[in-house]
Amino acid sequence: MGQGTVQTKTRHQEPRDQEQRQKGQPDQEPTKSDRLRIHNLVTRDPRTGLAEDVRKGLAASPKRFLPKYFYDELGSQLFEAICLLPEYYLTRAEEEILRNYSDEIAAAVEGKKTLVEMGSGSATKTRLIIEALLREQTELLFMPVDISASALESSSRILLQSYPRLRIEAYAADYFAGMAELEKSERGRTLALFLGSNISNFPSADAVRFLKAMRSVLHKGDALLLGADLKKDPATLEAAYNDALGVTSAFNLNVLARINRELGGNFDLRSFKHHAFYNEDKGRIEIYIQSLLDQRVRIDKLDIEVDFAEGELIHTEHSHKYDEAGIDQLANATGFVRTKTWVDSQGRFSSNLLMAE
Ligand SMILES: C[S@@+](CC[C@H](N)C(=O)[O-])C[C@H]1O[C@@H](n2cnc3c(N)ncnc32)[C@H](O)[C@@H]1O
Repeated sequence: MGQGTVQTKTRHQEPRDQEQRQKGQPDQEPTKSDRLRIHNLVTRDPRTGLAEDVRKGLAASPKRFLPKYFYDELGSQLFEAICLLPEYYLTRAEEEILRNYSDEIAAAVEGKKTLVEMGSGSATKTRLIIEALLREQTELLFMPVDISASALESSSRILLQSYPRLRIEAYAADYFAGMAELEKSERGRTLALFLGSNISNFPSADAVRFLKAMRSVLHKGDALLLGADLKKDPATLEAAYNDALGVTSAFNLNVLARINRELGGNFDLRSFKHHAFYNEDKGRIEIYIQSLLDQRVRIDKLDIEVDFAEGELIHTEHSHKYDEAGIDQLANATGFVRTKTWVDSQGRFSSNLLMAE
């Protein structure tokens, strides 16, 4: 086992493992602990350095935090709660597509496949693809990459309990560090997933950089299923990021709480508020944290004091909305060709099959 690699045992035996032991047979397939390997690259990758990125972001104008820092343990759980909100249609729309078309998606890539997923989170929707692949083949290797080690670990345990024919090789890592590892791995034919419209969080140059890196992980004939939220009326979009319960606000402000916890900050969360709106010209939701008053915040571990003016905005996330032309532009610039797009019954969300050329 390499540095930063853990092998994890799951608590319950699977029925088939129990049955084999009761019959006194040797295990024919790897035991659970053999079926899960998590490589934790987060602690040794400077690209995931919260401290340096916060220092840089607070010195920038306008000030900013990177969206990947939403996802500590609490942030990952808050995102799961967002997925259940009536206003946040994205998860339900994408789930509807995967429920209806998972067999078609699986069949679009020939042969026995390995499943890769970037930013897998709870991997709830992934189950639909896993089940489709396990209808086609006798066993499956799943290789998820996520910056949230806690989400990766709990989702992996749950998946292994559900699917005895699944093996997981997981990377707790920034996308790019994870892709560097995947590039070295032996995977055979690959179907990769990038769900939840995670692509939306990248400015267009970074979306191209991400897809080019993904393309170099894949081989000709492999495919990427890209989930992308579609342009629509501003009211529906703005409601999705301004839910009545305030969960999205908590998710956004958790970045300040995380800086307090991990870097010894003294942000008073009640002196800031969540601010999100649709910028129609740019075709994107813009998300900020707004300072409600003139204030000074100290961050002990960075040994800095930072002033915020009343009304000042700190940028935390963009969520770009797409149309077919936009997806084609991205695919064509990055060595993919879009061969098929599925949309949900209300035309809100798209799942795009990008084949590696
Ligand atoms: C919007 S959630 C989507 C989760 C899931 N794919 C879904 O569709 O519901 C984004 C996921 O990507 C992960 N993530 C965000 N930025 C990342 C980065 N730079 N590198 C790796 N994972 C990242 C988060 O931890 C989170 O699990």
